[in-house]
Amino acid sequence: MESLQTVPARSPEAGERSGGDLGFSAPGAEDGPAVHALIAACPPLDQNSVYANLLQCTHFADTCVAVKREGRLVGWVSGYIPPQEPDVLFVWQVAVAEEARGLGLAKRMIRHILDRASCAGVARIKTTITPDNGASWALFKGLAKGLEADISDAPWFLKDKHFPNGHETEHLVTIGPFAADRRP
Ligand SMILES: CC(C)(COP(=O)(O)OP(=O)(O)OC[C@H]1O[C@@H](n2cnc3c(N)ncnc32)[C@H](O)[C@@H]1OP(=O)(O)O)[C@@H](O)C(=O)NCCC(=O)NCCS
Repeated sequence: MESLQTVPARSPEAGERSGGDLGFSAPGAEDGPAVHALIAACPPLDQNSVYANLLQCTHFADTCVAVKREGRLVGWVSGYIPPQEPDVLFVWQVAVAEEARGLGLAKRMIRHILDRASCAGVARIKTTITPDNGASWALFKGLAKGLEADISDAPWFLKDKHFPNGHETEHLVTIGPFAADRRP
């Protein structure tokens, strides 16, 4: 498990708010309830069970990050390395509390995970995004630009074929391949 790393928020420039000190760490089971509550407060994210969040916080801790400010969880990324694709970091969910948005935190969390030893073999990022989630498209396009990598997408989980409840089609987005020296 990674040790807690406290870093100052990006200095406030034009249009940015100061975030105070943010602590980035791999999660533990004790973070499960707060992760569940943060996801619930971040529509349009799907809520998973607390049990699923606990598995993310334990089995997948090396590819997830929890960011706290004064003890409160303000940022969360869940991810994993798919068993069939050891060079891929699949980003499952990204959540930033309203109070911490606009500070570059989402992008920094993903780059923080990429910088870990657990991602030493990662050369691509994959995620899924619905067509209407503008913030998410902006986040991953900005990430691709920073990594100087190509970004592409194609429909993957289809509204009419895979979702029984009218959920929008999820596009599989791929960033990469990128070189290790393009990483943080
Ligand atoms: C999407 C979300 C994670 C962004 O968090 P954030 O910390 O404010 O994002 P960042 O400050 O790192 O911004 C990253 C990029 O996205 C852009 N962006 C962020 N929010 C945006 C929005 N609402 N609309 C358009 N662009 C947005 C930023 O301008 C930045 O672009 P740049 O790289 O060109 O500078 C946050 O708004 C959130 O939790 N939303 C609800 C849940 C969600 O939709 N999650 C994404 C699913 S993966």
